[in-house]
Amino acid sequence: MSILQPKLGNYNLENYDVMKERFHWDDVKSQFSWSKTGKVNLAYEAIDRHVANGKGEKVALIYSDSLREEMYTFSEMKHETNKAAAMFKKYNVAKGDRVFIFMPRTPELYICLLGAIKVGAVVGPLFEAFMKEAVRSRLEDSEATIIVTTPELLPRIPIAELPHLQTIILVGEEEKLSTGSGKKFVSYYSEMESTVSDDNTIEWVDLEDGLILHYTSGSTGKPKGVYHVHNAMLQHYQTAKWVLDLKEDDIYWCTADPGWVTGTSYGIFGPWLNGVTNVVRGGRFSPDDWYKTIEKYQVSVWYSAPTAFRMLMAAAPEIMKKYDLSSIRHVLSVGEPLNPEVVRWGFETLHHRIHDTWWMTETGAMLICNYLSEPIKPGSMGKPVPGVEAAIINDKGEKLPPYEMGHLAIKAGWPSMMRKIWKNELKYNEYYSIPGWYVSGDTAYQDEDGYFWFQGRNDDVIMTSGERVGPFEIESKLVEHPAVAEAGVIGKPDEIRGHIIKAFVSLREGYEYSDELKQEIQAFIKKELSAHAVPREIEFKDKLPKTRSGKIMRRVLKAWELNEPAGDLSTMED
Ligand code: WTA
Repeated sequence: MSILQPKLGNYNLENYDVMKERFHWDDVKSQFSWSKTGKVNLAYEAIDRHVANGKGEKVALIYSDSLREEMYTFSEMKHETNKAAAMFKKYNVAKGDRVFIFMPRTPELYICLLGAIKVGAVVGPLFEAFMKEAVRSRLEDSEATIIVTTPELLPRIPIAELPHLQTIILVGEEEKLSTGSGKKFVSYYSEMESTVSDDNTIEWVDLEDGLILHYTSGSTGKPKGVYHVHNAMLQHYQTAKWVLDLKEDDIYWCTADPGWVTGTSYGIFGPWLNGVTNVVRGGRFSPDDWYKTIEKYQVSVWYSAPTAFRMLMAAAPEIMKKYDLSSIRHVLSVGEPLNPEVVRWGFETLHHRIHDTWWMTETGAMLICNYLSEPIKPGSMGKPVPGVEAAIINDKGEKLPPYEMGHLAIKAGWPSMMRKIWKNELKYNEYYSIPGWYVSGDTAYQDEDGYFWFQGRNDDVIMTSGERVGPFEIESKLVEHPAVAEAGVIGKPDEIRGHIIKAFVSLREGYEYSDELKQEIQAFIKKELSAHAVPREIEFKDKLPKTRSGKIMRRVLKAWELNEPAGDLSTMED
């Protein structure tokens, strides 16, 4: 099985090479109000536009979790997001203000996120598993003035230490409304009940006005606020059409949480800009639950991640057989390398080609993909989206010939590229260290047919269960534990999770290695950062390898772990 040919069919992307030749982003703009009025608002284009075009009665959102099951038409979504927008206006949210949303996947999250965009705010979605320190650093850096959260998550927001934070909107029981902190507490449900839906709350913005801040990890420093603008909608719309192949009667399910970029770009923007019915399943992963979701809602297009597919693969085969999955017509993956094994499982067991897509928080939308109309080479990420130029280059910016490994780089200028790293120009500029190119930090090669093959990260960023974790944030937290003197964190290859987090730790005087200590340190990270940042393995060492300037050499830790030569040790202290 070296190449999987497409099934013949009527695809949106008819012929890759022809599309690539003819395509211009400017043509996409004509879809949106920008072309008529010179102004735009992504939330209007994703929701209200379909109502104006007579599709108000179509189901926009199918939401379910273990307790709720609700459907919202585009008209209802318009109505609800207008009310949310009016609520934000009432509490003084103005264009450009940062509105953070820290709550589990529920309809309220989606309504508030779009409502905030309607008033021209820059939204900051936070994953519900974040603990105090992760929440604090993001709210502090963004200087968010308002946050929407639930009474359960409220204790994780260090309200008193966040001077910019003025207003807390609570989605949940009113009796839990706190007072006495000098902040305003607002009850979401009573506010929404008393607010009228009003089209005039929409703030018409320019394509270059701010839309969303997604915090993501690098190998050094604190999480970076990746800032995207409304212009990204061109690419959300177009890639959802070409790559997700969304059509009028599709039922689409993206399994990602809006705390991560996939959960907004393709869990909200892409599908709704195309007016497609979007399934959101709350709660946790289980094979039964996921297959049941597909069967029950007749999901036709399914966008998920290698980790999830590997967990489904590892589950008992009888589980899949219990469900009727015949509604599926297109399956896609993102977030980490999609192993050929998984592609094979998809083909043989699920009876679908799984289409890999490559992109990053920073790139805002898909850049390199496998298309329905094209053959798939299992293990390859595919080819660039028409309108995007990708290349493998060396340090000097020279393009490398086929099969030579180098930087995976993109010619600057695609619509959804980040416009800045929030308050950190230096970090932003690091991406453009090679003139003319956005340097992704991934290494890859291209084959003679133009397919790209992922080889690894060339920094220390860890991809674990499809989530991107910066070792620095965990190391910094580890050394705050009283027992820990020094810490180095690496990703250790793992069959299901891609990588797991492994910490090497040296202890302070007076502390001794024990299983209890290990568990205590793990609990500390879980409490302070989040469950997905916990090192599953901790190895205690008397001393860690460091450069003469005192930097922990993760490269050497990795070599120890993998039993490989450690390479050049000339910068290592004795
Ligand atoms: C990795 C997720 C291999 C890559 C949308 C990238 C991938 C980082 C793939 C971005 C893929 C993403 N194959 N690796 N198809 N997709 N990655 O910002 O290392 O969470 O740089 O964005 O994930 O992760 P992020």
